[in-house]
Order: sequence, then C-alpha cells, then structure tokens
Amino acid sequence: MIHVLHVVGARPNFMKVAPVLDDLRCYPQVRQTLVHTGQHYDVNMSDVFFQQLGLPAPDFNLEVGSGSHAQQTAQILARFEPVVLEQKPDVVLVYGDVNSTVAAALVCAKLLIPVGHVEAGLRSGDRTMPEEINRLVTDQIADYLFTPSLDGNANLAREGVGAEKIHFVGNVMIDTLIRLLPAAEQSPILDTMRLAPSGYGLVTLHRPSNVDDPEELSALMGALDELAIRLPLVFPVHPRTRHRIGAARIGKSNDQLHLIDPVSYLDFIALQRGARFVITDSGGVQEETTWLGVPCLTLRANTERPVTVTQGTNQLLGRDTGLLKAAVVQILEGRGKQGTIPPLWDGHAGERIAAILVA
Ligand code: UD1
Ligand code: UDP
Repeated sequence: MIHVLHVVGARPNFMKVAPVLDDLRCYPQVRQTLVHTGQHYDVNMSDVFFQQLGLPAPDFNLEVGSGSHAQQTAQILARFEPVVLEQKPDVVLVYGDVNSTVAAALVCAKLLIPVGHVEAGLRSGDRTMPEEINRLVTDQIADYLFTPSLDGNANLAREGVGAEKIHFVGNVMIDTLIRLLPAAEQSPILDTMRLAPSGYGLVTLHRPSNVDDPEELSALMGALDELAIRLPLVFPVHPRTRHRIGAARIGKSNDQLHLIDPVSYLDFIALQRGARFVITDSGGVQEETTWLGVPCLTLRANTERPVTVTQGTNQLLGRDTGLLKAAVVQILEGRGKQGTIPPLWDGHAGERIAAILVA
C-alpha cells in the first residue's frame, strides 16, 4: 500500500489536485488523503470548486484562514504537523506556489517524509513576489519535482537540483480544463449576463503589486473604466481586491464595467472561452488563455510562465495603462496575438505523475 497525502489551500490548488487524485485512483495499491489548509474559505473561493471538480470532501480541514504571511504559514506548520505524524503518509504532494504549498513542504522535510511538488521549477526571477519565495523554498526541499514546461527543468538544474528528481510531466491545470470544457460549454453565464461571444473582455486582478497600493489600483481601475467604453468588461473581483477597492473608496463611472463576485470554475472557463481578450495578473489564467487561444494581456513586468509568452497568446504589459489601451485597440482591430499549445499540455499530466509515484 502507498499512502499519498495531498495538501491544498487556495483557489488555484483545487484544479491542480483534481486530476492527480483521479489518476491515482486507477492504482488499487494507492490510498489517498486530502488535507485542506483553509487558506481560502469563502464558498466561492473554495466549496464551489470541490463540487464542480468532483473533489472528495477533505479528510482534514486545518481552518487556518487569513493572516499575515508569517501568521498564516506558522498556523499551517503547527496544525499540519500532527496530521502528518498521525497519518504517516509515504509521500505528500503539494501544488503551485501559495503559502499552503511551502508550509506543508517544510513540515514534511523536517519529518523526513518525501514531498512531491506539482508545478515545480517555475521562476519569475522576482523575489518581491511572495510566490517566488514559496517556489524557491519548496523546490529546494522537494524530492519529486513535477514540471509543467521545460523552462522549469532548466531553472531547477541551474539551482543544483539533481536530475533524477526532476520529471517533465506537463500541466495539470490543463488536464482539468480539457476534462471540464464540455461542462463549461453548458454554463449559462454568458446568457445570464447578456454577453455575446467575442463581445466582451474579461478581467482578474489580485497580485499585491497591483492591488495593495491605492494609487496603483486606482490607476488600473480608471483605465478599465475607460476601456469599457469600447467593449463591456466583466471583472470577477478577488476578495483581496474587493477589500482594497473598498478601503480606497474607488468608484466606477461606466456601467459596461461589470464588477461581480468571484465566479465558479465552469462559469470562469465559459467566460474565458467567449472573451475577446483577458486582462489578468493570475498565473493560472495566463496558462488557460494560452490553451484556449484567447489573447491574454498580463499586467505584470515578469512571468514565471514564460512559455505562455514565447509560445502562447500572452503579452506582458507591466502596469503601463498606455500599453494596455494600445494592446486592446490592436486586438479590436483583429491583430491579437496568436499562439500554439506548449508540449505536454495535453490532458495527461496527472497520469504521468501517478505513474511516477507508483513506479
Ligand atoms: C493567494 C496566494 C496567491 C494566489 C491567490 C489565488 C499566497 C502568498 N498567495 O493570494 O499566490 O495567486 O491566493 O487566489 O499564498 N480572503 C477572503 N476570503 C477567502 C480568502 C481570502 O476574504 O476565502 C481575503 C482576506 O482578506 C485575505 C485576503 O483575501 O486577507 C488575501 O488572502 P490570502 O490567502 O492571504 O492571499 P491571496 O491574495 O488570496
Ligand atoms: N478562476 C475561477 N473563478 C474566478 C477567477 C478565477 O474559477 O472568478 C479560476 C481560473 O480559471 C483558474 C484559477 O481560478 O483556474 C486561477 O486562480 P487564481 O487566479 O486565483 O490564482 P493564481 O493562478 O494567480 O495563483
């Protein structure tokens, strides 16, 4: 019997764990345990994904909630250690680059429990991003490094990670996208919002560098307000951003800028698929738009997902609202960026991970 324990905590973890859990079920010798740290806890940031992705209810919910980086990470360390000591897993899988990822990996490394990092090797080179610190630390202590793209292999080799630990498996987020696209095509959200395919733009913003500073956020919201004159914009607002918009008392003047609550996975995939373009600072959305072939305008100076730029539909614009407006005009004139799908973003990454773990 191999006991695999998965740790998830934040919205982008849920679509990454789903295919790995599913594909490990094919092996009768594998027993699985699912731990939710509780980093995200709103129904529309957590529960709705468990339902739509068909995830089992977590065996443990650590209910850590929100806090400063140190508080949140410390809570996970303290609450996860007894679970590991009791469950004695053979391997623990952590996903992505959130605080739950690094905290769970650290607990296991100290207890000498092997750790697998799904989405290893990605680097933005920007250590002001909390996620970059989480990626660097997790990859140094993980035993299995499952990379979504070959830049990840190169980054890990440069940092001295042994080649025998690195496995290029492809992108688990795309596994979920491929599996659930038919269900997303049934989503009523375009009709409900009276949106025509290609008749609107989609927006998500939640990076601290874009939303935590009131002046930066105000400038970005002003640019969106202006762009929405040309084309309706749908903006499902992340809770971090909602708090910041409220605190800075930022208003909007344009009815075509639709600020709505975060939407479910199927609705969000439907919105991405039908969008003329997506404006974002999300990691996962850069990948999904590349696979869907929808132009993606990323409001960041760098990306840990360079294949979305070199091969996909992604463009990095920094926080330059002038560049943003010019890029939107270009797309509306029919000159949006086209791309190709990166290698192994083929719906089978979870199967490759499962096969490596049971070998
Ligand atoms: C976290 C991740 C980020 C990821 C994002 C995905 C870290 C360091 N950051 O950022 O990498 O891209 O999730 O969405 O792990 N909040 C709620 N309800 C919730 C969750 C959060 O209201 O269910 C609010 C709280 O005010 C909280 C704030 O959002 O303080 C930020 O939440 P947190 O998990 O600390 O970071 P995110 O910005 O969500
Ligand atoms: N997503 C969603 N509803 C939303 C916004 C995003 O289901 O309202 C999905 C999106 O399709 C992708 C994931 O959430 O699968 C990306 O997560 P997020 O942007 O929160 O985190 P990041 O990828 O930046 O870490």
